[in-house]
Amino acid sequence: MGHRKVTQIRIVVLGAAAGGGYPQWNCNCAVCSLFWQGDRRVTQRTQSSIAVTGDDENWVLINCSPDVRSQIMSVGALHPRGALRQSPITGIVLTNGDIDHVAGLLSLRESQPFSLFATRTIMSALADNPMFSAVDKTIVPRHVTELGGVVNLPGGLSAELFAVPGKVPLYLEQGDVVIGAETETTIGLKLSANGASFFYVPGCAALPENLANRLRGAQLVMFDGTLWDDEEMIKAGVGHKTGRRMGHMSMSGPDGSIAALSKLDIERRIFIHINNTNPVLVEGSEQKLAAEQAGWQIAYDGMEIEL
Ligand code: MLT
Ligand code: MN
Ligand code: ZN
Repeated sequence: MGHRKVTQIRIVVLGAAAGGGYPQWNCNCAVCSLFWQGDRRVTQRTQSSIAVTGDDENWVLINCSPDVRSQIMSVGALHPRGALRQSPITGIVLTNGDIDHVAGLLSLRESQPFSLFATRTIMSALADNPMFSAVDKTIVPRHVTELGGVVNLPGGLSAELFAVPGKVPLYLEQGDVVIGAETETTIGLKLSANGASFFYVPGCAALPENLANRLRGAQLVMFDGTLWDDEEMIKAGVGHKTGRRMGHMSMSGPDGSIAALSKLDIERRIFIHINNTNPVLVEGSEQKLAAEQAGWQIAYDGMEIEL
């Protein structure tokens, strides 16, 4: 008799890129240029979000990118079915208040019920912006979730929310910005269903001991893949900030995520939220090969993962 593994959790990467997407609309950096030139080694990627289901009926989005409409178009499981107005998307969880993770909510303002989950701090960034009242609270209830708590999501999924080193969204920065505090501002998720679980940490400024211990032995970790080199944007001439200043630990180097997660016995490691300057986006690049040799996969739009 054949041995058939039953799927416990199904994940679809809706978007694998960081803010701006790949290529970024106004960018001619070395990596974006390849796309504009039609180079076959690169593929476009939309801004980061995943869809997760524990029952193949109800899908929960983790973050809601400005590209959500095209993301729904390209994934059949997320198309409306049955009733005149319907969506398999019945929940959305936010991991921070950054524009690339929340702006898509404005595209879902069509009186369609779903539940929104976030920490109090992230929820207040929405509440402070009157434009988000277009996503009517009486139709889309906003569930404030405490850190450390476990929330029950649609379709038998549950999420544990925990703080990771981060910073306030760029649009809320003022004065001296604290980088790397573990607060409600930037969180990671442990998503579980049917006995399987994985971690989703698309933004993370560092890997302190407590976070390393949490991730140890995981089945799957999807992790912040913003930059390869902390000074990549400066070297590319497109910005003056390091990755660390943006609240992202970089992939390479002794303090990088590849090194930091290498000794944690994680079965499967996937980079997501990849910035348009990151050379891992180029098929066959030295950096992509190095990441793969270290046991990582580079997420792409439409990537399907079964646990
Ligand atoms: C980030 O991840 O650093 C932010 O999304 C940057 C931005 O707001 O564009
Ligand atoms: Mn981002
Ligand atoms: Zn670029």
